[in-house]
Amino acid sequence: MPNALIVLAAGRGTRMQSDMPKVLHEVAGAPLLLHALESARGLDVSRRVVVTGHGADEVEAAARAYVPDVVCVRQEEQLGTGHAVLQAKEALQGHDGPAFVLYGDTPFIQPETLTAMVEALEGSALVVLGFEAADPGRYGRLVTEGERLLRIVEFKDASEQERAITLCTSGVLAGEASLLMELLGEVTNENAAGEYYLTDLPGLAGQRGLVTRVVRCDEAETMGVNSRADLAQASAAFQARARANALEIGVTMDAPDTVHLSFDTVLGRDCHVEPNVVFGPGATVETGARIRAFSHLEGCHVSRGAVVGPYARLRPGTEVAEDVRVGNFVEIKNAELGVGAKVNHLSYIGDADIGERTNVGAGTVTCNYDGVLKHRTEVGKQAFIGSNTMLVAPVSVGDEAMTASGSVITQNVPDGALAVARGRQVNKEGLARKLMARLKEIKAKRGK
Ligand code: UD1
Ligand code: MG
Repeated sequence: MPNALIVLAAGRGTRMQSDMPKVLHEVAGAPLLLHALESARGLDVSRRVVVTGHGADEVEAAARAYVPDVVCVRQEEQLGTGHAVLQAKEALQGHDGPAFVLYGDTPFIQPETLTAMVEALEGSALVVLGFEAADPGRYGRLVTEGERLLRIVEFKDASEQERAITLCTSGVLAGEASLLMELLGEVTNENAAGEYYLTDLPGLAGQRGLVTRVVRCDEAETMGVNSRADLAQASAAFQARARANALEIGVTMDAPDTVHLSFDTVLGRDCHVEPNVVFGPGATVETGARIRAFSHLEGCHVSRGAVVGPYARLRPGTEVAEDVRVGNFVEIKNAELGVGAKVNHLSYIGDADIGERTNVGAGTVTCNYDGVLKHRTEVGKQAFIGSNTMLVAPVSVGDEAMTASGSVITQNVPDGALAVARGRQVNKEGLARKLMARLKEIKAKRGK
C-alpha cells in the first residue's frame, strides 16, 4: 500500500544564527529538507506533505524545486510537533494507507530503516523509530513492556526513574494516516512545555488497546542539525558514508578523506579518483574513467576511459565521451567532447561541440559571450585547433580542418581547410642586434 510522508519543517532553528530557514542549509550540495525527503526513497510513496512555518515562502519554493508534486501546508503558530502533523490532515484526505512523520532537520535516516518500519506496521497500529542514546539528554524516553511501547514521556515531563531510560525516540513515527489524525485530535497541551506533543500518540493508542512497536536504528541516523557545528558534523558524516560506499562498489581513491562528494554523485566501478577532487551536484563518472588531482566537476557526465585533470574544471552541461582527455587548467561548460577528443592544456571551451578525435591546442578559447548573448562553437571530427586560437562564436570549424596557432577565427572554416587569421610575420635582418646596441647606449648615458 502506498505511503504518505509528512515532513516537519516549521521550526525557527534559532541556534543556526542564520537569515536562512534551517532546513535549507545544505549538506553535500542539497538542503537538509531534501535529504529528509530522500530518506524515504526505498518506500512506495504516493504523497509528500511538508509542514512549513518560519521562512515558509523560501522553504516551499525549495521543496517544489526538488519535488514538483510536493504539497506544502502552513503551521502559522508553532504549537508543537503534534499540532504540526495535524496541519497535514486536509492534504491527506483520501489517502488510504500509512503516513510517516519525518523531521526536516534530520537528514540521515536510512531507507532500510524506514522499510523495517513498514514491515513492523504489519502487526501493530503505530511504529516509533527508537535508538539507544549514548547521552539521552532531552530526548523523549520510550517506556516499553517487552516489545510493546506503552508510551513516550518527554524529558520535561519525565520522572527521575523515566529519565534513567536510555531508549529514546528519534521523533520518526508511522501509522495509518486516518488513525494518526484521529489520535491527534485527542492530544492536549497539558504538559510541562504547554505544547501539543506528537509523542503522546503511543499512549493514546494504548488506551484503545492498539499496539505500538519500536524499530531501532543506530544513533548516527537520528542526528539532527541545530547549529553550524552540527551542520559541519553532518557534512563530515555524509562524506564519510559516501566515500565508504564508493570504495565498497569498486572506486579507487588514493586519499578518500580529501575527496568531496555530492548527495547525487555517481561513480562507476573501477573509476579512479585522485586526491583533492571536488564533486558538485549532478556529476556522473562512468566505469574506468580517471579523475586526476585537484579537479572540480559538477553537472557533467564523464564516459568510460576518459581522463580528466589534474586541475580541470567541468561545469554544468559538460558531456565527455569515451577516451577523451581533458588536461590541466582546462574549463569546460555546456559542451560536448566527442570520442577521443583532446583538450589538454589551459583552455576554455564553453557552449561548444567538439568532434571525435579533434585536438584542441593549448590556450584555445571559445569566445562564447558577446556581453549580452551566448553563442555556440561547432568543431567537426579530427580537426586540429592550433594553440592560442580564439574561436569567436557563433562559428564553425569543419571536419579535418585546421586553424593556425594564434588565429582569431571569426568566419566558418570549411571541411579540410586551414584557416590562418593572424598578422603575417616579417623578419628584419640584423635589426635586433642594432636595436639592442642602441638601447644599451641610452642606458649608459642615463647612468652618468
Ligand atoms: C522531539 C520529540 C522528542 C524526540 C526529539 C528527537 C516531541 C514533543 N518531542 O523533540 O521526543 O526525542 O524530537 O529529536 O515531538 N516542529 C514544527 N512545528 C512545531 C514544533 C516542531 O514543525 O510546532 C518541527 C521542527 O521544525 C523540527 C521537528 O518538528 O523539525 C522537531 O521539533 P523540535 O522542537 O526539535 O522537537 P524536540 O524538542 O527536539
Ligand atoms: Mg529537536
